[in-house]
Amino acid sequence: MKGLILSGGSGRRLRPITHKTAKQLVPIANKPILHYVIEDLVGVGITDIGIVVGDTAEEIERSVGTGSRWGADITYIKQKEPLGLAHAVLISEEFLGQEKFVMYLGDNMFEDSLHEVVEGFEASSTNARLLLSKVDEPQNFGVAEIDEQGNIKNLIEKPEDPKSDLALVGVYLFDSTIHTAVKTIEPSDRGELEITDAIQWMISKEKNVEHRTLKGWWIDTGKKDPLLLCNELVLDQIETFHLSQISETVTLKGDVVTGENVEIIDSKIQGPVVIGSGVKIEKSTIGPYVSIGDDCKIEYSSVERSVLMEKSLVSGVTQLTKSVLGREVQIKGKPTDSQEPTSVMLGDRTKVELEND
Ligand code: G1P
Repeated sequence: MKGLILSGGSGRRLRPITHKTAKQLVPIANKPILHYVIEDLVGVGITDIGIVVGDTAEEIERSVGTGSRWGADITYIKQKEPLGLAHAVLISEEFLGQEKFVMYLGDNMFEDSLHEVVEGFEASSTNARLLLSKVDEPQNFGVAEIDEQGNIKNLIEKPEDPKSDLALVGVYLFDSTIHTAVKTIEPSDRGELEITDAIQWMISKEKNVEHRTLKGWWIDTGKKDPLLLCNELVLDQIETFHLSQISETVTLKGDVVTGENVEIIDSKIQGPVVIGSGVKIEKSTIGPYVSIGDDCKIEYSSVERSVLMEKSLVSGVTQLTKSVLGREVQIKGKPTDSQEPTSVMLGDRTKVELEND
C-alpha cells in the first residue's frame, strides 16, 4: 500500500501562525505534526509516500526531505490551488497507480497507531474504509448517517442539520475505484472537490464502503484550541529525559524533557513540559503543559498550557496561558505589574508590549 499525505491547505483558521508557516509544521511537543503523520504511516510498513503540497511546498520539503531518516521514500505532488481533498487525489493518480492507499490529512493527530485501521484492508475486496469519531460539533465536519444494519447510509460535508454526531476522521483507505469517483463529482458550494462527495458516489454505486469507529482521541489541529488540547494530550505521554544539567536553584515536578544547552536559573517547572535546545529560563514558573522550541528565552514570567516556537522571548509576563507563539516572537510586560492572564496567538516575528490599564 502507498501513503498519500495532504498538506496543500492554506491554514486559514490558524492565522496569523500560518501566515508564513505551513499548518502541518506547527510543532506539538516540539515535533512538527507532519512528522507524527509520517511516523504513523511508516509504523504500519507504508514507506512509499506522496505528499500533496501547495504554497508552502518549499518549507515542507525542507522539513521532511527525502524521507530517508524514517526509511521512507517521499514524492512531492504539487497542487497549484487548494481545490479540495478529492482534487488532491485527482492530481495524485499517476503516483498512486492502481495500488491501494491510505490518505492521511497532514494536520490530523491520533492517539492510536494505524495498525487496527489498516489491518486486512490490502487483501480484502473493500473499496473504501473510513474512520468515524463522535464529535461535539458535527456541522464542522463530514458527517456519516448509519442505517439499522450499521452501514453508512450517506455522507454529507458540513451539514447545517447533522443527522448524527459521527464525523469523518482525516484517515481514509481506498482502492483504485476512488479515481473514477473523483473524476465524476462536481465542486461543492465552497468550490472544492469534496472527498465526502466522492465516497458518497461510491456508496450510491453500491461499492463496498466500510467503516471503523475510532477508540482513542483524534484532533484536527487546524485551530488554536484543538492545537493546544493536542499539545496537552501528547505531553501527557512524555517521560522525564534530560540532555542538560539542571541547576539546584530549580524545582522540577512531573515529567520534564530538556534538550542540549538548556540553562534554567531560579525557576519552577511543573511538568509535563518539553524544553528545546539552547533555551534559557530565569526567575520564571513554567507549566503545566508547555512546549518550548529551541533557543527561546523566558524571564520573570509565568507560562502555562502554551506552545512557543523557536527563538521567542517572553519577558515580564506574569500569566501567559493558552497561547501559541510563532518563531522569533517577543512578548514583554513590566515585571512589577500584576497582569490579567494573557492568552494570544502571535505570528512569526511579532513584537508585543503588554500594558496595564
Ligand atoms: C476535512 C473533510 C471533512 C473531515 C475533516 C476531518 O474538512 O472535508 O469531511 O471531517 O477534514 O479533519 P476540512 O478540514 O477540509 O474542513
